[in-house]
Amino acid sequence: MYLSRLALNDFRSYADLVLELAPGVTTFSGLNGEGKTNLVEGIGYLATLGSHRVSGDAPLVRRGADQAILRALVHSGRGDALIEVELNPGKANRVRLNRTPLPRPRELLGILRTVLFAPEDLALVKGDPGERRRFLDDLLVATAPRYAGVRADYERVVKQRTALLKSAGAKSHLRGPAREAMTATLDAWDAQLATAGAPLLAGRLRLTEALRPHIVAAYAAVSGGSKEAAAVSYKATVPVDTGDLEEAILKAIATVRASELDRGVCLIGPHRDELELAVGGMPARGYASHGESWSLALALRLASFALLRDGQEDPVLILDDVFAELDAGRRDRLAAIVADAEQVLITAAVEADVPAVLSGARFAVSNGSVTRG
Ligand SMILES: Nc1ncnc2c1ncn2[C@@H]1O[C@H](COP(=O)(O)OP(=O)(O)OP(=O)(O)O)[C@@H](O)[C@H]1O
Ligand SMILES: [Mg+2]
Repeated sequence: MYLSRLALNDFRSYADLVLELAPGVTTFSGLNGEGKTNLVEGIGYLATLGSHRVSGDAPLVRRGADQAILRALVHSGRGDALIEVELNPGKANRVRLNRTPLPRPRELLGILRTVLFAPEDLALVKGDPGERRRFLDDLLVATAPRYAGVRADYERVVKQRTALLKSAGAKSHLRGPAREAMTATLDAWDAQLATAGAPLLAGRLRLTEALRPHIVAAYAAVSGGSKEAAAVSYKATVPVDTGDLEEAILKAIATVRASELDRGVCLIGPHRDELELAVGGMPARGYASHGESWSLALALRLASFALLRDGQEDPVLILDDVFAELDAGRRDRLAAIVADAEQVLITAAVEADVPAVLSGARFAVSNGSVTRG
């Protein structure tokens, strides 16, 4: 799949941008702060309905404006699609597909598929487990949009159950029927957590298995077959070798109720799991060098790309500022890996950092305008 047109109105530093794009490689270069990342962030937003840099929408709207509009023309095997997102911070966003409003923004997911690598991805390796859980969940949604609902349901249950644990913990003095009623309510929420958590856990486990060979291969390819291999494993808070994950969650929850009430947190479930990453047999977080961490983060994205393209169309591959951090060998190997993707969008502060084999369309980004070079 590829984008042939991108239009941004009052998005980040862009007042009014229309950009014609073609399949193959396109490079955007320009000095720091000129708007290169803003551009690819807009494309990522159209694909995922979220920014890779901020969690809320307010910073995405150009200073002084009260809404932003993003539009793109997407070409895929399923035909052409005009997608449109209107960002209204503090109010509901609106989404249109081929000029028809969609009742729920989520229905746009899957129309444009992207894999975006950005400097923020270093947090995938060095950051908290939550970063890696989000990586898995985002990728699950990209592979099957129905997981957007699975994920939202689970997050809602965890939030409500946590609130309940907090209030129940404060009422530990209750006795008799009042205590029984509270216990019954907690039991009901345990069941809800298990029901909502099982499909998410199953999805993540399957995804980790599917990703593993791609991550190992991508890391080896980027690092030039260095003897330090990458490894990944999913570490759950419940035993996952049983057939019934819902049952496994329920059983595990039953053993921790006292400490859950004590601490006012849900201790069991996919929201406490970890995707462990290692390089050369050592945990990447804490041991890997900067270059190794960067290469591993990149390998996670390249693996996502390989997985999503498997038997399907290529997602649009976006590499924000990736080359400057890599040594010459890694740059060339990365270039060779991505050169055959259907559409690759690359940003670089220094154009010369992008290997020559990735020749293609070139744009200069300067002060909110993008001109063909
Ligand atoms: N909501 C907004 N309204 C106006 N300007 C904004 C908004 N959000 C960000 N900017 C501006 O956009 C610029 C940052 O753009 P961007 O992150 O795309 O830079 P870049 O070209 O990727 O730079 P670098 O090479 O450092 O990564 C900053 O100058 C910032 O002030
Ligand atoms: Mg940038």
